[in-house]
Amino acid sequence: MRIPVWAFLVFLGAAIVSGGTAFTHEGATGVVKERMDLMKGIAAQMKALKPMIDGGSRYEPARVATAAGAIADHAANIAPSFPEGSNAHPSEASPRIWTEWDGFAASAQALRTHAAALQADAEKGAGAAKALFGEMARTCKGCHEGYRIKKQ
Ligand code: HEC
Repeated sequence: MRIPVWAFLVFLGAAIVSGGTAFTHEGATGVVKERMDLMKGIAAQMKALKPMIDGGSRYEPARVATAAGAIADHAANIAPSFPEGSNAHPSEASPRIWTEWDGFAASAQALRTHAAALQADAEKGAGAAKALFGEMARTCKGCHEGYRIKKQ
């Protein structure tokens, strides 16, 4: 069964909004702060891509390629940003990251692969971009569901 792209876009909107609640993460330091910033950087690039993908603004291949390339670079830094046991408050990292490291690392790699594909194929236009963007958004959702715990 294929899940429509709009479902990912709805999810992504929620991810971006939740990433904006700065107070939740007051006091984050060191590698936890760095990877929160990394994730926020990824979310900002997804947000820049979104209107060009869903038709809200004109599709500009060069901008799409730049944003996708930045996400691919960031994705390469995800796994190294999770040293074992680095999930103390206020981190939302699940301990499953380290008990199921291969799955976690594969999810980060999948994001990197799809982002690099979008970078390479940006000039093919919005249709191809939409499919790849959907794949990228699916990695966000999948990894967050499996490896991120929403702490209140
Ligand atoms: C390989 C797993 C993985 C992938 C892929 C992933 N994330 Fe995350 N993300 C996490 C984890 C784990 C956290 C919690 C980190 C922490 O609190 O220590 C997180 C946190 C976040 C946050 C909150 C940052 C903060 O300030 O606390 C945002 C926003 C976010 N991710 C956006 C995204 C978006 C958008 C994508 C897809 C383009 C994505 N993430 C892909 C694992 C992932």
